[in-house]
Amino acid sequence: MSRDEINTNTLLSKIDMDKLPKHVAIIMDGNGRWARKRLLPRTAGHREGVERVKEIVEAAGNLGIPYLTLYAFSTENWGRPKEEIDTLMKLLVEYLKKELTTLHKNNVKINILGNIDDLPALPREEVKKAVEKTKNNDKMNLNIALNYGGRNEIVNGIKSLIKDVRSGDVILDEINEEVFKNYLFTRNQPDPDLLIRPSGEKRLSNFLLYQVAYTEFVFSDVYWPEFNTEQLYKSLIEYQSRKRRFGGI
Ligand code: FPP
Repeated sequence: MSRDEINTNTLLSKIDMDKLPKHVAIIMDGNGRWARKRLLPRTAGHREGVERVKEIVEAAGNLGIPYLTLYAFSTENWGRPKEEIDTLMKLLVEYLKKELTTLHKNNVKINILGNIDDLPALPREEVKKAVEKTKNNDKMNLNIALNYGGRNEIVNGIKSLIKDVRSGDVILDEINEEVFKNYLFTRNQPDPDLLIRPSGEKRLSNFLLYQVAYTEFVFSDVYWPEFNTEQLYKSLIEYQSRKRRFGGI
C-alpha cells in the first residue's frame, strides 16, 4: 500500500459510519486559481475539477451518503467570458456522456437543481437524457446545481405557490415550511447536513439559501481540483466533531 492509501485508510477509520450526513452539498470553488498557480489556462482547472467530481461521487457513493449536491454553474456564471462558459458546458456534456452508464449501473439518480431551459441545446438534451435514464434509481441522489441561484429558486417557488393558491390547490392559511419546501428544486429531499466549500473562500454565493438554515459548514483551503477522497474524509471528520443543536440547547 502506498503512503497516500495508508493516509486515506487511517482517515476512513476515524469516520463514524452511523453518523454520516444524509446530504452533503459542495461549492466546487478554486478551479481558476488552481490553474493560475500552475501557469495553465483556467479551463485546465475546470478539466481537473471534473476528475474530482468523478472521485467524490464515487467516494460518497461508497460511504453510502444518499444525497450529494454539487454546485456546477450558477445563474451569475453567465457573466463569465463566452469561451469559459462554452468549456464548462462541454465538460458537463463529456462528463454525462462518459459517466452515465457507470452512474446508472451504480444506481445513482441524477437530479438537476436549476432551470435547464436556458441551457444551450446540447447540454440541455444531454442533461434531460441523464435525468430520464436514472429517474428510477435509488441508491444515491446526485444533484447537479446548474444555472442555479438560491434567490431565484425562492422567488420562483413563491410565484408557483401563488398560482396554486389562486387556483384553489393550496389554501393560504395552510401554507407552512413543509408546504413551501415542495416548491423548491430539492422537494422531497432532506436539507443538507453538511456544506463544504474548498478554496479558502467563506461565503455562500447564492447556494441553497433556504435549505442551509441548520447546515454545518466546513471550509477547506485546498482548491477544488485538489479536493480528493482524503479531503472529503477530513471534512466528514470535522462535521462529526460538531454538536448540532438546531436552535435547542
Ligand atoms: C469555480 O471555480 C468552479 C466553477 C464555476 C465550475 C465548476 C464546474 C466543474 C468542476 C466542471 C463541470 C461540472 C460537472 C458536474 C461535470 P472558479 O472558476 O470560480 O475558480 P476561481 O475562484 O479560482 O477563479
